[in-house]
Amino acid sequence: MRTRILLNLVLAVTAIIVFGCEKKKNIAAAEKPEVKEKKKMSITKESYGKTPDNQTVVLYTLTNPNGLKARVMNYGAILVSLETPDRDGNFADIILGFDTLDGYFTEHPYFGVIVGRYANRIGKGRFMLDGVEYKLATNNGPNHLHGGVKGFDKVVWKVENVKAKDDTAMVKLSYFSKDGQEGYPGNLNCSVTYTLTKDNELRIDYEATTDKTTIVNLTNHAYWNLAGQGSGDILGHELMLNADKYTPVDEGLIPTGEIKEVKDSPMDFTKPTTIGSRIDQVTGGYDHNYVLKGGVGKLTLAARVYEPTTGRVMEITTVEPGIQFYSGNFLDGTIAGKSGKAYKKHYGFCLETQHYPDSPNKPNFPSVVLKPGEKYNSVTVHKFSTK
Ligand code: BGC
Repeated sequence: MRTRILLNLVLAVTAIIVFGCEKKKNIAAAEKPEVKEKKKMSITKESYGKTPDNQTVVLYTLTNPNGLKARVMNYGAILVSLETPDRDGNFADIILGFDTLDGYFTEHPYFGVIVGRYANRIGKGRFMLDGVEYKLATNNGPNHLHGGVKGFDKVVWKVENVKAKDDTAMVKLSYFSKDGQEGYPGNLNCSVTYTLTKDNELRIDYEATTDKTTIVNLTNHAYWNLAGQGSGDILGHELMLNADKYTPVDEGLIPTGEIKEVKDSPMDFTKPTTIGSRIDQVTGGYDHNYVLKGGVGKLTLAARVYEPTTGRVMEITTVEPGIQFYSGNFLDGTIAGKSGKAYKKHYGFCLETQHYPDSPNKPNFPSVVLKPGEKYNSVTVHKFSTK
């Protein structure tokens, strides 16, 4: 009996000691702040090859702490790839393009490039400025398209600055376009800066100055497929455009000058609508400039796109007054893109933030004129998320 009481006493004392130690341990654990390794923004650089005229091309990979990866090269200031997660955390490259630099030297419809000096079309390649008529290179029937025969997409840009900070990673590229190049007046100094942020945004800043009155309209021409490049057509994507008007075009895709309401027509994307639901009612598919509600100079929501099978969402904000919605109508499967994937009709879409096409010939459109002493500034932000 006495032995049992003694045993119980020993057990009780042991339990108190053990419990006390555990409690102490817990308190110690709570007091000690958890040290988690903070992931950072990073940039890596690699050589990407040479141009046919022996210029060196470099490729930068910008990565954010969430694993988003943007690759940018200095040939054509091209956005080569962008990897983002779907709703289950699986990453995919959502931009059409090529696996190697050589692919970008073949004839292709402006995959991921920076377009300049003037994005989109200028009717008959002609315009008047200060009483002088300028004749540009024509490369789209009788019209000038995306800067001419050798636009900013087909030249090597200078690497100006590469920097990773706590919240951002950026690459700034610059290009000097000579007076008279492709017919444009004035020496133009321009730059484009790609910035990836820790908040899953890809921001593109454009700047330009001139020594003679000229016209400028720069944009990025990425083809998106939020289900992953080469995975099929984009007709099931839901699109919302923050625009209740657009600029109707003639058979050569030159705006007529009219600014028309989208209401009660297949052009209406004011509410999220699948791209394919009314595309048959639009001759040739969508290839139109929308008049954004934000107007000129204010960073405002322009578009939101949602891909239902992966949950990926892309939101575009811009200071530009227009956005060209192009549903990849001229893709025809003849181009083998990344991983040998054939890019067929509607396998990608473009949302090119810009001033309206043929603005130099349309006095009622916002001006694209840049004068000496002025600074051209444009910003577009792509924000990625899932739902
Ligand atoms: C234009 C299309 C053109 C495509 C590729 C788009 O920006 O709107 O008409 O076919 O670029 O050149």
